[in-house]
Amino acid sequence: MIRAILKMGDPRLLRVARPVEDLQDPQLRAIIADMFDTMHATHGVGLAAPQIGVDLRLMIFGFTASPRYPEAEPVPVTTLINPWLEILTEETEDGWEGCLSVPGMRGTVPRFTHIRYGGTLEDGTTLTREAHGFHARLFQHEFDHLDGILYPQRIRDMTRFGFIEALFPDSPLAALEAD
Ligand code: NI
Repeated sequence: MIRAILKMGDPRLLRVARPVEDLQDPQLRAIIADMFDTMHATHGVGLAAPQIGVDLRLMIFGFTASPRYPEAEPVPVTTLINPWLEILTEETEDGWEGCLSVPGMRGTVPRFTHIRYGGTLEDGTTLTREAHGFHARLFQHEFDHLDGILYPQRIRDMTRFGFIEALFPDSPLAALEAD
C-alpha cells in the first residue's frame, strides 16, 4: 500500500526513531512492503520509516537505474533494521541530494566518501558492507532520517539549495517530481 510521505515541517520527521525490538512482528513485514510500494511509486532511491510516520529505525534503499538520479551508479536494493554507521575517512564531498520529504528541491550536501554500515536484515541475519560515492551518500541520507535530520540541515552553501525547475531548467527532473 502506498503511504503518504510526511513533508519537512512535520515534527514526526525530527524525532530520534526507536529501535525495532520484535523482528517477528507481522506488522514489521507490512510496513516494509508499504515502504517499497511508496518508494517505487515516487521514483525514490531510499525511504526511512519516519518518512511515513513510523517511529522505527528501519530503512530501505537501492536501485538499478533511477530517473531521479540518472548519473548515479546502481546500489543494491536493501532493507536494514536497526542500522549502524561507521565513518572510514575524514574526507567529505559535496553532491546534489533531494528527498521525498522535501519535494521539488535539491541541495548540495557534504557527505563522507567512505563508510562501513550494517544492520539486521528481514530474515534476522546481519549485513556489513563498505560503500563509497553515491552509495555512501544515500546511506548517510537515510541514516540521518532515523536521527531526525533532514538534508537541508546539512547544507553549508545555501546558495546551492533551491527548486529543481530553477536550478536545472532544462532537466526532465522537474516534471518527474511534479506528478
Ligand atoms: Ni530523504
